[in-house]
Amino acid sequence: MTTARAHTNIALIKYWGKRDADLILPYTSSVSLTLADFYTDTRVEFDARLATDQFQLDGQAQSAAKLTRFLDLVRGQAGITTRARVTSTNHVPTAAGLASSASAYAALALAASHAAGLTLDDRALSRLARRGSGSAARSVFGGLAVWHRGTDDASSYAEPLPATTLPLRMVVVMVNAGPKPIGSRDLMANTVATSPYYPAWVTHNEAAATAMIQALAADDMPTIGHLTEQSAMQMHAAIMAADPAFTYFEPETLAVWQTVHRLRASGVPVYATMDAGPNVKLLTLAPHVATVCAALSPQFDQRVLVSAPGPAARVLED
Ligand code: DP6
Repeated sequence: MTTARAHTNIALIKYWGKRDADLILPYTSSVSLTLADFYTDTRVEFDARLATDQFQLDGQAQSAAKLTRFLDLVRGQAGITTRARVTSTNHVPTAAGLASSASAYAALALAASHAAGLTLDDRALSRLARRGSGSAARSVFGGLAVWHRGTDDASSYAEPLPATTLPLRMVVVMVNAGPKPIGSRDLMANTVATSPYYPAWVTHNEAAATAMIQALAADDMPTIGHLTEQSAMQMHAAIMAADPAFTYFEPETLAVWQTVHRLRASGVPVYATMDAGPNVKLLTLAPHVATVCAALSPQFDQRVLVSAPGPAARVLED
């Protein structure tokens, strides 16, 4: 029995689109920041008496179909057939809309591989987590990480980037914490299949990943922020141009972007990004967090969360 913890990550350079849906190989590399405040704890116990895998999330029994597909990969590597009891808790402020497959599959990959007696190095663990959810490949690592798109299963993995001296902070603005109208996996596939902007997205985003790694190494906040906004907006533009057309933007989403641009015009280093939902995440620096929160508070008051960079996935109990 092993319990592991993994933290969510927010992509500064996005992953959007699979070249291989079974292996979860992405069309582009991506770059992310793991967050301290939001994480998943998962306990895995292999038990020879079980006929099927059992899964409980936040105290509620769940269907184990996806879990079983993932655990089969672990069982295959470990040479066992034993079923498992999996208990998972998301530590994300209630209704933050941040409950993420990234922290979930990174914690599951670590706990399950450990409980099965495997000792995977970070690269093998990242590749395993990737098979559950692409973004989980990056949640194996703390701080900044790059997920190399690679060319096959062995070469598509994440690894940590050198720490920046910038005191990066992420401010999460909860626009709407309700369920998503369209899940990201289906929308991602449809964007690849139908958006005329998708090929342009691939070209630009891959170049942006390389540029981002250089900007982070140079502690160049204006370039880091610029590339962050470009990657998010280009991803959402590709989504809007898909058939059927769709957008996660809501009126308040745009209100946050306007606030960000107004703050920047007054000299505050703050940049917006968004994932598969209407909530907005703002990249800024610790000395500016109070100014950013003050600008958001008239409209968003209790709907603003702040996080510092967080640590790598780790075993809590064995
Ligand atoms: C918009 O990793 O959740 O958050 O691989 O289908 O499970 P699957 O997708 P997932 O997609 C994340 C998309 C994103 C951008 C990102 O995190 O890079």
